[in-house]
Amino acid sequence: MSPTTANIIAKLASEHNLSDAELLALLTGTEDGINEQLACAADKLRRQYYGDKVYIRGLIEFTNYCKNNCYYCGIRAGNSLAERYRLSQEEILACCAEGYKLGFRTFVLQGGEDLYYTDDKICSIVSAIRRQHPDCAITLSIGEKSRASYQAYFDAGANRYLLRHETADAEHYAKLHPASMSLENRKRCLFDLKEIGYQVGSGFMVGSPYQTPRTLLSDLRFLQQLQPDMIGIGPYITHEHTPFKDRPSGTLEQTLRLLSMLRLLFPYALLPSTTALGTIHPEGRELGLKAGGNVIMPNLSPVGVRKKYELYANKICTGEEAAQCRGCLEARVRMAGYNIVTDIGDVRRTLE
Ligand code: SAM
Ligand code: FES
Repeated sequence: MSPTTANIIAKLASEHNLSDAELLALLTGTEDGINEQLACAADKLRRQYYGDKVYIRGLIEFTNYCKNNCYYCGIRAGNSLAERYRLSQEEILACCAEGYKLGFRTFVLQGGEDLYYTDDKICSIVSAIRRQHPDCAITLSIGEKSRASYQAYFDAGANRYLLRHETADAEHYAKLHPASMSLENRKRCLFDLKEIGYQVGSGFMVGSPYQTPRTLLSDLRFLQQLQPDMIGIGPYITHEHTPFKDRPSGTLEQTLRLLSMLRLLFPYALLPSTTALGTIHPEGRELGLKAGGNVIMPNLSPVGVRKKYELYANKICTGEEAAQCRGCLEARVRMAGYNIVTDIGDVRRTLE
């Protein structure tokens, strides 16, 4: 690697920021060893903040109905071939109870934007989980809502919210979504969530159609402005029943590079090594941890519905029971040199 590139990486590791030109140089660099050098610096920093800890979040995909039509997503309303399902409050509570026994202290309720779940229903589910598991964090990931709805969920006991911004470039956003959706509203949601007091997660897909180094640069700058607690990135993966069926998936290498860059830009952040990364490569999630990730989100949904929550092709871990998933991941994480902890896993903003 050239001394210039090595210097840029060293600067990023010590200052946690770079100029636009330097960030673009890292995003586009083709020299051998860039990813390795970035991962090495990122791992060093994650160990300073989080040691070898890997936090687990139990993901409950409770509905695959969605009113929206994002061009990339397998559960978009327009995909008439998707087999739809919804979990009842009792089923969701059963997933949490099983997860709790397995050591999960964070539950992530994720779903399409499904109007069947009115605010009252969501609040009822959230407060029931809160009553049964007062020592757990409850994360929602159910898309764009009004500020009043977010406030109601928060008052019911939800304390974290995941909403990827998807892309911070308005033109790019318009190429990924129909005109009924806007970057402006997505950003409004994220700032509302922060103001209400949620711990917020945002992020984007790597290699989404029409993504460029410039749009990635705006993603990094937007995240600096938002300062989220969690940043979720994973490769875009093609789904054959979407308008983007002929578009190639994002790559392992670019996702790992961005994970390391995010760790160096946001030393404090919770960075999941995502299921999508594990889907494009058999050791994707382990490599994601080595590149700077410190969170894994195993599936706690009932096995019967897992395949139906098909955002993209060949999603992994759709056949295993939650307990099997937990055991398998524990071993994988240990082999990679880290340790899963049973912990609510709050963000560590400072080193003291
Ligand atoms: N409806 C909620 C929302 O919009 O935030 C949560 C569910 S949505 C399916 C969760 C995330 O899946 C999206 O933010 C998107 O980044 C990701 N996703 C959707 N389609 C994908 C694909 N084809 N490949 C990779 N990730 C995808
Ligand atoms: Fe459901 Fe994008 S298709 S939010």
